[in-house]
Amino acid sequence: MSAAEAVIEIDSLTKSYGKFPALRGVDLRVERGQVHGFLGPNGAGKSTTIRVLLGLLRADGGTVRLLGQDPWRDVVALHRRLAYVPGDVSLWPGMTGGEAIDLLGSMRGGLNEDRRAELVERFELDPTKRGRQYSKGNRQKVAIVAALASDAELLILDEPTSGLDPLMEKVFQDVIAEARARGTTVLLSSHIMAEIETLADRLSIIRNGRIIRSGTLTDVRGDARTAVHAVLERVPDPNDLTRLHDVRLEGNRLDVTVESDRIGDAMTLLTGYGLVSLTVEPPSLESVFLRLYEDEDAAHAAGGTR
Ligand SMILES: Nc1ncnc2c1ncn2[C@@H]1O[C@H](COP(=O)(O)OP(=O)(O)O)[C@@H](O)[C@H]1O
Ligand SMILES: [Mg+2]
Repeated sequence: MSAAEAVIEIDSLTKSYGKFPALRGVDLRVERGQVHGFLGPNGAGKSTTIRVLLGLLRADGGTVRLLGQDPWRDVVALHRRLAYVPGDVSLWPGMTGGEAIDLLGSMRGGLNEDRRAELVERFELDPTKRGRQYSKGNRQKVAIVAALASDAELLILDEPTSGLDPLMEKVFQDVIAEARARGTTVLLSSHIMAEIETLADRLSIIRNGRIIRSGTLTDVRGDARTAVHAVLERVPDPNDLTRLHDVRLEGNRLDVTVESDRIGDAMTLLTGYGLVSLTVEPPSLESVFLRLYEDEDAAHAAGGTR
């Protein structure tokens, strides 16, 4: 076990809605000071897991520790130490955005006023409008500013940027990186690979109520193959290429994929044929994601029980 302190520790968490098992044994560990990406398609169980962490839902089984406490029993104490941004923020219709930010902030013992002002400006939020006048994106900004202007040790963000335009998405990425630099721990759920790819130290991928992969970006990327495109001086014998994957040979032009830890071997092999040109494409997180899903679907098709 690593020496780092776990801010979130979930073991074998189960939760059903009626007869429907939304979580079938979720394991998740988030260490202090890290941005942890929580990635999965719609319906995978991200929000259900987060609602359990927030003490909004009671777990059916398993154990959940949050900042060393029990999210169901210690809900009052915990909510002074964490800030939450949902994917669809509702605000008090008659209250201005600025008032809402202060009210949300007061739950966490007040806000850092300088940071509050700076965030309002960077997100180009007009805090004088009332809740009912705001678009979805602007309601989202109100919640993000309130969370980030607090000194919460833990930010729990459930698809927080749905509704933000690309420019604001960039601002969001910057402010999360700054929060991390201050030592804040972040759980960031998303179904957008690119968002996690830039921000997360570690990630967990959830599907059908179970974590199917967890690790650093490098670990998870290591699952996918690197594409290699080469033009060779001599046409290789296809029998020599059997250890490569997805081999396509047209004349002296070769396209293959290689496990990421075997690129060196592949280069040695190809150099033997004289390299005229070479392009190497490292796997995107997106391709990893799709591959994990294909593997899971194949397991289902093969008669897997889950
Ligand atoms: N209140 C609810 N009642 C019944 N089913 C629900 C409820 N909330 C979520 N679900 C179901 O549980 C599963 C997980 O949902 P959710 O945790 O919201 O996933 P995600 O946030 O990853 O999109 C989905 O199949 C969803 O339809
Ligand atoms: Mg959700």
